[in-house]
Amino acid sequence: MTISQNVSLKPYNTFGIDAKARYFTSFDSKEALREILESEEWKDVPRMILGGGSNILLTKDFDGLVLKNDIKGIHAIKEDDEHVYIQAGAGENWHGFVQYCIQHNLAGLENLSLIPGNVGASPMQNIGAYGAEIKDTFYELSAYHMNDHAVVNFNKDACDFGYRESVFKRQYKGQFAIMSVVYRLHKKHHFNTTYGAIEQELAHMGITQLSLQSISQAVINIRSSKLPNPAEIGNAGSFFKNPEISSAQYETLKAAFPDVVAYPLAGGHYKLAAGWLIDQCGLKGYRTGDAGVHAKQALVLVNYGNATGSEIYDLSTYVLSTVKAKFGVDLEREVNII
Ligand code: FAD
Ligand code: EPU
Repeated sequence: MTISQNVSLKPYNTFGIDAKARYFTSFDSKEALREILESEEWKDVPRMILGGGSNILLTKDFDGLVLKNDIKGIHAIKEDDEHVYIQAGAGENWHGFVQYCIQHNLAGLENLSLIPGNVGASPMQNIGAYGAEIKDTFYELSAYHMNDHAVVNFNKDACDFGYRESVFKRQYKGQFAIMSVVYRLHKKHHFNTTYGAIEQELAHMGITQLSLQSISQAVINIRSSKLPNPAEIGNAGSFFKNPEISSAQYETLKAAFPDVVAYPLAGGHYKLAAGWLIDQCGLKGYRTGDAGVHAKQALVLVNYGNATGSEIYDLSTYVLSTVKAKFGVDLEREVNII
């Protein structure tokens, strides 16, 4: 195992922030990770597990050991009449894994096509898009406790998934390295096309017979038209969560802003479109230096080239306070601030 020093993390985060890791290495097995973390030399050094770097904002150099999870492998581990259980290594690319399932005619993840990043991070914030979240298909995961070195399996209940949330983002933050995840895919296809513009895009594509491939392609087309490609312009997707508010707060807001974009939730709550709130503040396309609010999607903050993480962070604070002043609504950052 080689541990490098003073490594630029620019190629390892989709914001393209040029922060440095004091130490950097990658591992491709649990044993390799254990060897590092149990050694006298590394056991007390601050560490961070890195996947595809598509949901982090590096606001400073990392004065510790960055461990890039490169555990690979995709296998069917069991099967019943209705399902196939597929295990994927944490270091597998998420979209590649989704395509593997589609190619094997297994349903459940097609609406989650083209989300950047790796399989290991998918449970961290219960990734979701276009009417699906991983919790709908998730079965279990295996994680390595980085302090006591135990390997622990988490089923769905133990992950306590919420909207862009799990125990790994809350009480177990920074404690576990997720090694592999098992998804329970359906042999029978139940197509989910009701969300957003999927049906419209399928019609535009001339699709008359639905398939996993056509839904995946429709999602890919919509995403590509809306979201900036990190290979061209640095970003980490939605920078903020869509805030959830009470029905009383919603009624007050609706009276003042009749066009407010909101979705009713169970229990009488509402989810607001944070992109709409930011847009209405006149911030879409706002730019300060190389940090900006994306010109086509106000929920996405971007790095036009040489922004630092703290410049992007300061911009996010400005967005938070502007939205609060106009609407009285608190936004919460979705991206992990390092
Ligand atoms: P990283 O950014 O590497 O890590 C994220 C966090 O998880 C960090 O705190 C890291 O320490 C931790 N972590 C990573 N891997 C592990 C592991 N194996 N074990 C323990 N901890 C780990 N997200 C959505 O939910 N829906 C979307 O539609 C969506 N669209 C996006 C579009 C774009 C253009 C971009 C750039 C991002 C988008 N995202 C979206 C966010 C991002 O793709 C997901 O959060 C993704 O799961 C992050 O994966 P990653 O491997 O890049 O994680
Ligand atoms: N809107 C505006 N102006 C904007 C942006 C959006 O008015 O600048 C309005 C849109 O017109 C629409 C509404 O806000 O009425 C919602 O916009 P969109 O459909 O683009 O979705 P989103 O709420 O901005 C969420 C997720 C995305 C996910 C998409 C599709 C969050 C925080 N974001 O975005 O996830 O891909 O829905 O399901 O929940 C991510 O987490 O990184 C991410 C990209």
